[in-house]
Amino acid sequence: MRIGLVSDTHLAPGGRAVGENCRAVRAWVARAGVDLTVHLGDVTAEGAAHAEHFAAAQDAFRDWPTPMRLLPGNHDVGDNHDIARSALEPAVDEGRLERWRDVFGGDRWRLSAGDWTVLGLDAQLLGWGSAAEAAQDAWLQAELDAAQGPIALFLHKPLFRNAPEDDERHLRYVPPAPRRRLLERFAEKDLRLVVCGHTHQLRRRRFQGCEHVWAPSCAFVIPDSMQETIGEKTVGVMLLTLSADSYSLDFIAPEGVGRHNLLDQMDIYPQLATRIGSQA
Ligand SMILES: [Fe+2]
Ligand SMILES: [Fe+2]
Repeated sequence: MRIGLVSDTHLAPGGRAVGENCRAVRAWVARAGVDLTVHLGDVTAEGAAHAEHFAAAQDAFRDWPTPMRLLPGNHDVGDNHDIARSALEPAVDEGRLERWRDVFGGDRWRLSAGDWTVLGLDAQLLGWGSAAEAAQDAWLQAELDAAQGPIALFLHKPLFRNAPEDDERHLRYVPPAPRRRLLERFAEKDLRLVVCGHTHQLRRRRFQGCEHVWAPSCAFVIPDSMQETIGEKTVGVMLLTLSADSYSLDFIAPEGVGRHNLLDQMDIYPQLATRIGSQA
């Protein structure tokens, strides 16, 4: 199975550059002959605060060339409860999750690809302590109990920065306690690959037999004045090919995808005029 990995489109009504890049990604998906497109979250610029941003995303993805599975990001359903900061960057809640489900279906999903099990998880629920998080936990456990063979996990936020033992709490990563619980549940399983979005950087690191990949945004990078460089600040998509017992993964900069800068996106983030920007 060939999967086109798209992340952080940050779509909104009137978003010129992000819209153009999304159309260029659509053309690449059609050309590349992929079987499936996975969106790793931050579909919208500010859907968590402005419901109309979902309409822009629906327009952009209408008649998409392949089936599509999407995962919510902090800009879509709100941020993790211990890190949410403001009215424009609120915490995830039931109403926001409902809005996501109404538009895009589930916020978690499983696919089979040959011997592979592919799991999509809602990172924004982690650490909430809610019924929604408990339901996702129960679902995940059932999926893991049934899974045979290699597993690929997709979620919006990276699990950690430097190593699975990290204790740093930063909005860039999954909270440490639920991350530890999550990894313990995979300990007896053949977890090969974890792919996230959120950082708007490309990075590939391997820990304990598993590759952790930060997929870049296909919309814009976040400048050094707002976010440190950890991986590579680039813009594009990734192509994942799952074979019988292996995978290949490549970064691609599709024709027509511009390497835009967040600071130039005032048509979707007018608050940038006063530099109260969103960081990842
Ligand atoms: Fe993002
Ligand atoms: Fe994000």
